[in-house]
Amino acid sequence: MATQMFEGRGHAAVYQKYRFSPGEELQGAILGYLREKGTNPTELAVDVGCGSGQGTLFLAERFGKVVGTDISQAQIQEAKAAPSPPNVSYLVCPAEELPFEDASVDLLASFTAAHWFDIEKFMREVSRVVRPGGCVAISTYTVDMSLHYGTCSEKLTQIFRETWGQLLKYSHNRVKHVLEDYKEIFEALPFPDKKRITDIYDKIPMTVAGVVGYLESASPYQVFLKNDPEAAKTLLPEMEKRLLEVMGVPSPETPLEFWVRHVCILGHKEA
Ligand SMILES: C[S@@+](CC[C@H](N)C(=O)[O-])C[C@H]1O[C@@H](n2cnc3c(N)ncnc32)[C@H](O)[C@@H]1O
Repeated sequence: MATQMFEGRGHAAVYQKYRFSPGEELQGAILGYLREKGTNPTELAVDVGCGSGQGTLFLAERFGKVVGTDISQAQIQEAKAAPSPPNVSYLVCPAEELPFEDASVDLLASFTAAHWFDIEKFMREVSRVVRPGGCVAISTYTVDMSLHYGTCSEKLTQIFRETWGQLLKYSHNRVKHVLEDYKEIFEALPFPDKKRITDIYDKIPMTVAGVVGYLESASPYQVFLKNDPEAAKTLLPEMEKRLLEVMGVPSPETPLEFWVRHVCILGHKEA
């Protein structure tokens, strides 16, 4: 069930268009950890549950080869259709059966995806494929999100949260891992040398249309759309209208800032 959440072609296309990449703070936390642990060489990074490649591309600048994997054919199709450097490739496979040799991966990363995996089986694969001296970075953005624009940030955030609140009842029960800041996933990582950072804040440049699109790409919205298409189709235009009114601007392309808190689990396999 969980793995079917991102299967649809329409959903994958919305996802590709509106999901953002890890911001500077999250990237910095991961790269800083690799430096701290002296992870070198940096030949192969794998991005598990890569969606349409949101986190895969930033790794491409630092690793010889980056492979994004996802169980959804539609997501991988979108990832392959987007421009990417020659050292990036994508393949369809479950997180619980990774097609990599034992001890072959320098960094195993996963962005906002691990809560959908069978945690026990995934961790067995993590333990198998990461090489001694290699690292793991498993992150998610949390529901701790706010909108920032001039002096009306508080009102905008309230409207955003009210809308999100209406979607929460359509959340899959695996979202509990996100609400618990990935505590259980952290405990399941079988490396003694590990830490969980829960206060990484990124400020993502966005537009009002981008905020609407982000919510459209969220799995609870997609469930709402299936269950009650009429109500779902009015929810987001209404939110957009309210945001624009508060901002006093006519265009949904008006830029604003989207602040988001990330949780990141970092681990190092003993050399
Ligand atoms: C919320 S999206 C995150 C995508 C991307 N990493 C990002 O940062 O936006 C979760 C992704 O995990 C994938 N997924 C879910 N279950 C999976 C599994 N068992 N194995 C591999 N991928 C899975 C979904 O298809 C989806 O693309």
